[in-house]
Amino acid sequence: MAKKTGKTSRTNERSLASGRLLAALNQQIGNEMGASLQYVSIASHFAAQDLPNLAAFFYRQADEERQHAMKFVHFVVDVGGSVVIPAVPAPRAKFATAAEAIALSLDWEHTVTEQIYALVDIAKDDRNYIAQRFLDWFVTEQLEEITTMGTLLSLVERAGEENLLFVEDYLGKNPIVPAEGEAEGAAE
Ligand SMILES: [Fe+2]
Ligand SMILES: [Fe+2]
Repeated sequence: MAKKTGKTSRTNERSLASGRLLAALNQQIGNEMGASLQYVSIASHFAAQDLPNLAAFFYRQADEERQHAMKFVHFVVDVGGSVVIPAVPAPRAKFATAAEAIALSLDWEHTVTEQIYALVDIAKDDRNYIAQRFLDWFVTEQLEEITTMGTLLSLVERAGEENLLFVEDYLGKNPIVPAEGEAEGAAE
């Protein structure tokens, strides 16, 4: 049972989200943009090492994270809030090994999952069913992202840093891309 906290007051007459939910949604815009920048950084690291398929994987992930950020932007506008994008930290640029860059990405996805759960907690506490429905898409998306990144990490660990061309070859034949548009549109 969601207990009444009295913190559910709307920011204005027409807003469909509480002030604290809007603040957390705005923070998540920054988090998703931060993830996008981190993946651009990792992609360019692989591109510079002549590993085009690993680079393509991360460029694609970077695009997806930007799309996630934009879903939050549109949602904040749709519920009558103001978009206030926070400062986004600079991404990490140097990686000792491919496995390190991918392990960092997997860690990142776990962190994002916790961030999404925290948003769901606020939406539940606010009894904001519109926001809960919107956030469901992200919960499902995180399962996919963690699974995909975990698969890539085990491929790279199995091949070893000296044999990343095996990974390139594998990715060329079996692109481990998230199913295109599987949950797309849920928040459009
Ligand atoms: Fe994301
Ligand atoms: Fe992600």
